[in-house]
Amino acid sequence: MCGITGYIGQQEVVPVLLGALEKLEYRGYDSAGIAVLDNGELLVRKAKGRLAVLAERLVGERIGGTLGIGHTRWATHGEPSDINSHPHTDVSGRIAVVHNGIIENYARLKEWLQARDVVFRSDTDTEVIVHLINYYYRSPPEPGVAPGGILAAVLAALKRLEGSYALAVVAGDFPDRLIAARKDSPLIVGLGKGENLIASDVPALLSYTREVYFLKDRELAVLYRDHVDLFTDQGERIHRAPSHVDWDVESAEKGGFAHFMLKEIHEQAKALADTLRPRLTDPTGAAGGAMDITFDEIKLDPSWATAPRVVMTACGTAWHAAMVGKYAFEHFARIPVEVDIASEYRYRNPVLQPQDMFIVISQSGETADTLAAMRLAKQGGMRILAITNVVGSTLSREADLVLYTWAGPEIAVASTKAFTTQLMCIYLLALKLGRLRSHLSDEEYRRYLAALTCIPTQVEGVLGKKDLIQRFASRQFNKNKVFFMGRQFDYAVSLESALKLKEISYTHSEAFAAGELKHGPIALVDENTLVVAIATQETLFDKIASNIREVTARGAASLVITWEGEGAFASIADEVFTIPKTEDSLSPLLSIIPAQLFAYYCAVQRGNDPDKPRNLAKSVTVE
Ligand code: M6R
Repeated sequence: MCGITGYIGQQEVVPVLLGALEKLEYRGYDSAGIAVLDNGELLVRKAKGRLAVLAERLVGERIGGTLGIGHTRWATHGEPSDINSHPHTDVSGRIAVVHNGIIENYARLKEWLQARDVVFRSDTDTEVIVHLINYYYRSPPEPGVAPGGILAAVLAALKRLEGSYALAVVAGDFPDRLIAARKDSPLIVGLGKGENLIASDVPALLSYTREVYFLKDRELAVLYRDHVDLFTDQGERIHRAPSHVDWDVESAEKGGFAHFMLKEIHEQAKALADTLRPRLTDPTGAAGGAMDITFDEIKLDPSWATAPRVVMTACGTAWHAAMVGKYAFEHFARIPVEVDIASEYRYRNPVLQPQDMFIVISQSGETADTLAAMRLAKQGGMRILAITNVVGSTLSREADLVLYTWAGPEIAVASTKAFTTQLMCIYLLALKLGRLRSHLSDEEYRRYLAALTCIPTQVEGVLGKKDLIQRFASRQFNKNKVFFMGRQFDYAVSLESALKLKEISYTHSEAFAAGELKHGPIALVDENTLVVAIATQETLFDKIASNIREVTARGAASLVITWEGEGAFASIADEVFTIPKTEDSLSPLLSIIPAQLFAYYCAVQRGNDPDKPRNLAKSVTVE
């Protein structure tokens, strides 16, 4: 996730761009940049670090101009650096582009352009866009066809892109216009008087206008000073009335959601699609090939596939993702897995075997215990594969291989989209290794991949029923004990569910492996207890049903999270919340969502601020 903005009007553009970027900084803050057309010259200024570093660099520079674009970056392809910051320019320095999204086929496009002598300066996926635009601007797509100007060049370039984008383009030859386009990343056009703007999010526009076009997928806008034209990506004109925004600035920053946590829960469908899609070849079968997993960013050398053991370590939510990983690696790849909390691992004199595969998981990539555990494993000669959300983090720099979760910045302290995207990376690795180790047949492999492609839509389906969870939370939020239980994958999800609830609602909540109930925890169950059973492992339905009967017989209220169409629990639980059916082994990607929502609504009912839970920090960078 990055923030983009652009302005064309009468005002000096630099302060306008910096003001808008400040409002968008929550979307990414590892570097920032602007491109301004000043007296026919395209000036680009960019800097690694927070926006303040760029602003500082601009102090004392006299840059005029009333047309420009800006970007605040959350690195995906290419580490945070001046050179990888946006805007990116073509070889002549006459066209500049800012981009939010992921160009999935950038490696192929880069090769294609390099074969046409284009020299690349950055490691970003974005740079292909500006070179493509320049290519089509200089040389029309078909021999004998006259160049169609900058709009035609942008349209031709967009046809080549796979993936997601919100982008803005300025060109030295066209000082009267700014071009913007979107697909699968947000972009809003603000309509002012004698001035028009674009931004990734509404707050950046509110000081100028409340009349906006919410660009739809595959739409383009050409902004002039006095009007805006809308087009489809086929170049056809679109006519529609603008929308009026009446949000206040604070709710606008949260995209209309009451809290960042709720916003991030809702971003999971997109974050999962962003994490999955670039790693699947031919997901729709359109290219006539068989779907497969490819990790462009890492080379899984054959010794990884023959590793005798996987060791996984992390803290908090990331440790719960590792717990799911244990079941996934054992299930799909038949590799023995050891999972440990990083703060335990680092001090327990573990057996370090260089031939093992060491997987370390961290949203921030800066958690002190996680880094220490990784360094210990490294000293022991183990090869490190990191799963992290932050490009350029300490973890990403020190690990041998890095698999990124493309969740975008996670602002809320309680982790949600980072968790599900960590799960997605784990599933991709486990499935790939399962195939390489020949534990999955072709047919099974493709069936699981097909199921993964449905997950983002199924997440939307779960979110569409959030009112049911909200109503349930409004009846149960006062319970002083909430226990989550499940078996296997469901046990791992129970651990994460209990953590979410305790973090933000301050309710005493615990997770149990359901089979452990009789070995102690059931002594705690009484009428003031709510038990949430996660039941997605069909072969164990009878077992979990007995566990539910055991707790309800002792007065506990109960909620079961299970598959749509599953009738086994209707008569034994107080409430049943259903999720769309996927493979039992992939259920954590869906079953955690109602638990996240439950934690959120309980916290709100209790009058807590879910974004700022007491005593907690987003990143625990000290012991
Ligand atoms: O940045 P990391 O993933 O390494 O953070 C690990 C934990 O501190 C983190 O998951 C924490 O438990 C969250 N507050 C959970 O919501």
